[in-house]
Parts: sequence; C-alpha cells; structure tokens
Amino acid sequence: MKLFMDTANVDHVAAVAAWGVLDGVTTNPSLVAKEGKKFKPTVLAMCELVPNVSAQVTATDFEGMKKQGEEYASWHAHVVVKVPMTVEGLKALHYFRFKNIRTNTTLVFSVNQAILAAKAGANIISPFIGRLDDIGEEGMDLIAEIMEVWNHCHFDTEVLVASIRHPRHVAQAARLGAHICTIPYDVFTKLPNHTLTDVGLKKFLSDWERAKK
Ligand code: E4P
Repeated sequence: MKLFMDTANVDHVAAVAAWGVLDGVTTNPSLVAKEGKKFKPTVLAMCELVPNVSAQVTATDFEGMKKQGEEYASWHAHVVVKVPMTVEGLKALHYFRFKNIRTNTTLVFSVNQAILAAKAGANIISPFIGRLDDIGEEGMDLIAEIMEVWNHCHFDTEVLVASIRHPRHVAQAARLGAHICTIPYDVFTKLPNHTLTDVGLKKFLSDWERAKK
C-alpha cells in the first residue's frame, strides 16, 4: 500500500519524506487555507519531494475544471488533478484520461460513485472514511465493499482511503487491500511508535551500559 500525507504543509511533507516511506501528498482547499500560503508554490515545493501531489480544482463546471486542471498539470509532472465526484466532475475525469492527465476523484461516499468515477477514467478514487464515521456510519465498510467490487471488475483505478482519523484506520485500509492511504501528519507521527519498543530499547541500552564495563 502506498502512503500519502494529507496536508498542505511543506515542512511536514519534507520531515516524513526523509523517513523514506512517503509516496505522495493529497491537498484540498481547506488544508491550503489552513496553512495560509500561496497554492502554486506549495504544490511545486511538494512536487520536488514526492512523485504524486493531488491539487484540487475549485471550478464546479466541466469547462472550468478542464481549464484549471490543464493549468495545474502544466506546473509539474508530479501533479495529480483532484476532481470532485459530481456529474461535471465525471465529464472532467473522462476528458483528463483522454489527455493523459492523472486524476484523483475526491468526496466519494458510496460504491456507485466509486464505480462511476472508475468508468469515467479516474486514476485514483478517494472514499472519505472519517466523515462517514462522524455521522455514525462505519466508514471502513465502504472500503471493504469497494475492494470487493474491484476484485470482480478489475478497474485500473487505485482506491485511496481518505479522511483518516487514527492509526488503526491505516492498518485496516492495508488489510482490506486498498492501494493508497492518505494520512494526516499527526497520525503519521504516531505510526512508528510503540510503548514496548521504547521499553525494549531503554532496557537494551541500560544492559549495554553494564556489559561494556
Ligand atoms: C483527501 O484527499 C482529503 O483531503 C481528506 O482526507 C479529507 O479529510 P477530512 O475528512 O479529515 O477533512
């Protein structure tokens, strides 16, 4: 499973890229607004660090998405154009596939949306798990259903588990065979840790202090 970071913070991307585990970044307008930095330089800086950077169009009509997406794609070969799951978005996905521009479909909340986006030509679909959990549904069930359909239909579209809230989500996504998981920085920094690792290392080091004398 590929690991992406869900952020618009370049420093956070650089920090985790240095671990050698980062395959990409997903941004969205809310994450960009939170950082308060200019969009294009942010995307370009991230493109220097990882091979996949999702940049979301803000137009809601096909012509507008087409124009924005073509512009983003011209910035850097690592840009993936992020398109919302709407009827206009489907038209844009179809157009971008024809133009060899890579796409990620955002705001996917049902199996039928996933199927439509894949058939329209999306390279990636992003089902949002945490937001389903937030309204009392079991977000991970959606991933299980989508992966079951993918096993029958053999789409070449990668399933990216988005809206991750905690480390358990990451492990569950991997167990279900999802292709990508996008992880917020605070969750990412929890992944390397385990209390028994800390206790074990402390003991090794204290034993070594005695042994080396
Ligand atoms: C993915 O591409 C989205 O940006 C993201 O995962 C949304 O997560 P949220 O529900 O925490 O805003």
